[in-house]
This record gives sequence, structure tokens and C-alpha cells, in this order.
Amino acid sequence: MSHIEPVIRAARESDADPIAKLHAESWRTSARGIMSDRYLNDDVYDDRRQVWRTRLSDPDSGYLTLVAVQRDGLHGFICFRLDGDDSWGTLLDNLHVDPELCGRGMGESLMRVGVSQVEQLRPGRPLHLLVFEANPRAQRFYERLGGRRVETVTMHLPEGNRAAPAFRYVWDAPVTLQPWPRRD
Ligand SMILES: CC(C)(COP(=O)(O)OP(=O)(O)OC[C@H]1O[C@@H](n2cnc3c(N)ncnc32)[C@H](O)[C@@H]1OP(=O)(O)O)[C@@H](O)C(=O)NCCC(=O)NCCS
Repeated sequence: MSHIEPVIRAARESDADPIAKLHAESWRTSARGIMSDRYLNDDVYDDRRQVWRTRLSDPDSGYLTLVAVQRDGLHGFICFRLDGDDSWGTLLDNLHVDPELCGRGMGESLMRVGVSQVEQLRPGRPLHLLVFEANPRAQRFYERLGGRRVETVTMHLPEGNRAAPAFRYVWDAPVTLQPWPRRD
């Protein structure tokens, strides 16, 4: 599959609904069996739309959100909570690529641009994220970029009081992403 070089820019308030749509589509694929069918089939888009409208309407929300766009629209996004945790540092809260374009380098580009911007905004802080135990593809993706798995935690799901096991991955400060193994 050919490599894609998207334009990566800061998210705007008007991106909230397209981000919510992509977030919902991505979870319908990658979180099937983790989140309930009812949530994924019926509620996920409205729920995410509310989250992204709120987040992007407040310039002081403490989040950095970037989007990957091509001529025909938005195909990926990454979002960091800058002051995520006193000890673990910045939280990589969301990373999603259009399910039809996965495996073509867009996730890696979003990570590299995002991490370099975070390093300028919060220099010298570590980076961490949580990834579902049942999502080995994303785990492999983060491991290839040098993320280190440090513990298993219980992650609360956006629906009611459900939870699922997740791994915490960390990058020590100063955060440097490992070079990606050669792509064909
Ligand atoms: C994880 C994710 C962001 C990676 O983005 P991407 O653009 O597919 O990643 P890249 O093309 O830069 O790297 C591809 C590598 O990522 C991994 N990968 C993860 N999910 C993949 C998918 N659905 N399809 C193909 N590769 C995937 C593989 O290791 C792959 O390497 P390989 O092709 O040699 O097997 C993306 O697959 C995605 O959005 N997944 C669903 C949502 C998700 O799991 N987000 C992370 C939550 S913590």
C-alpha cells in the first residue's frame, strides 16, 4: 500500500463534527467487542460530537488537537491532554486514522508532528497513553515507535459505568520516537 503524506494542521472549532464522525467510525471497527454494540450502533456519534464540540470551542481547554487532511476531507486526528498527569506527563488521549486508510503511514505522521509540538509546548515532560488490551495492532504501532508498556490498568469506557483492561505505554523525557522500520 502506498504511503500517504497528508497535510497536518491544528484542529478548528469547525472540525468538531468531522472529527466526531471519524472517531465514531474508528471505534465501530477497533472497539467492537470492547464497547457495547448498543453504544457503537446507536449512541457513539452523538456522544463524540458533544465531546469534540466542547473541547474545540474552548481555546484554553488544555488539549492540543491536530488533524490530517487531504483534498477530500479529514482522515485522521491526534489529541493530547497537555498537563495529563503529574508523574506520567502529557497524555496522548486520542489517535485515529480513517479505517480505509490505515497502514499507510498517516498514524506515524500524526505522532511525529504531534510529539514535536508537545515538546515545544511542554518541554522535558514524559508522554503516556492507554491502549485497550484487546487492541494488539495499536500496541504494535506504539511499540514500533519506542513506547514502553509499564502496567495494566482498568480504563473507564464512555458509556455508563463499564470498564475494560488497558495497557499504559510511556516515553521518557525528552520524548523521542524511534525511527520506523523500513516500509515497502
Ligand atoms: C493505530 C493507528 C492510529 C495507526 O495508524 P496507521 O495510519 O494505520 O499507522 P501507520 O500506517 O503509520 O503504521 C501501520 C502499522 O500500525 C499498525 N496498525 C495498527 N492498526 C492498523 C490497521 N487497522 N491497519 C493496518 N495497520 C495497523 C501495524 O503495526 C502497522 O504496521 P504493518 O503495516 O507493518 O503491520 C490506526 O491503525 C487506527 O486508527 N486504529 C484504530 C484506532 C486505534 O486503535 N487507535 C489507537 C487507540 S490507543
